[in-house]
Amino acid sequence: MTSELAPGIISRTPGSIAESRCLVIGAASGIGLATAERLRASGAVVIGADLPSARWSGGRAESSHAAGWSLAMDVTDPRSVRAAVSSALRTLGGLDVVVNCAGILGRVASALTTPVEEFDRILKINLTGAFIVSQAVLPAMAEAGYGRLLHISSTAGKEGVINMPAYSASKAGILGLVKSLAKEFALSGVTVNALAPGNVMTPLFQEVPAEQQAAQAAKIPMGRFGTPAEAAALIEFIVSPAASYTTGSVFDLSGGRATY
Ligand SMILES: NC(=O)c1ccc[n+]([C@@H]2O[C@H](COP(=O)([O-])OP(=O)(O)OC[C@H]3O[C@@H](n4cnc5c(N)ncnc54)[C@H](O)[C@@H]3O)[C@@H](O)[C@H]2O)c1
Repeated sequence: MTSELAPGIISRTPGSIAESRCLVIGAASGIGLATAERLRASGAVVIGADLPSARWSGGRAESSHAAGWSLAMDVTDPRSVRAAVSSALRTLGGLDVVVNCAGILGRVASALTTPVEEFDRILKINLTGAFIVSQAVLPAMAEAGYGRLLHISSTAGKEGVINMPAYSASKAGILGLVKSLAKEFALSGVTVNALAPGNVMTPLFQEVPAEQQAAQAAKIPMGRFGTPAEAAALIEFIVSPAASYTTGSVFDLSGGRATY
């Protein structure tokens, strides 16, 4: 179905992931990078966004990037997020899919020695950032009558991981955020869900101290860590048109570690 909305924005309910217009945030590394690559390989048009850095030049979405279109975005800065989302909307004529993989681990330390400033920094990127992204993308999706918004939580948000008080709290916050947003947008054609990975081999996971990695490995019934490609495969399903009757849900990706 095709209908004209705001100037330049076209509602075009995709019939498959190949017909979807996607924005992947945190696309320079790890799960976000694998997701952008997988969606592109499936035929979707994908814009990646990440913090500007030497490896991520960003720039206007109109300019081509080696790995596809790229945008600079800091999820903690509402103006930066709004500007990047507007650019993506103009370039693609709409956004059917937004996957927000931006996140940090932060300092791994006892709650008693974690400075309040560090707690706030982690919450701001992992949780407030997800709220800012949601505020920026949901109006256009709701107006179009179709959308798939996915934020990345963590097993840490369900279980709580020792020496990661802020990280665990931020990821638990994602669960409440997506459940609230899902209800608010349930009649709009937009689904809002969370992925809760356990341990996925990415640069972020490599920051976890070795002894803590070993302790987490011991909890995984499948006996191994996950890969970014495995995360991307589940993400592709969650943001596909086929996943039409699931919103406000948490999809585990933990090799059997998550038990509820
Ligand atoms: N790897 C794991 O084991 C694991 C487990 C559970 C949850 N997660 C979550 O999955 C998501 C992706 O993590 P990953 O393992 O791929 O990590 P990663 O470090 O490989 O990638 C994270 C990306 O987020 C970007 N980013 C950080 N701050 C940002 C900001 N302010 N604005 C925009 N982009 C920003 C980084 O530049 C980076 O490219 C994170 O939310 C992480 O918490 C990862």
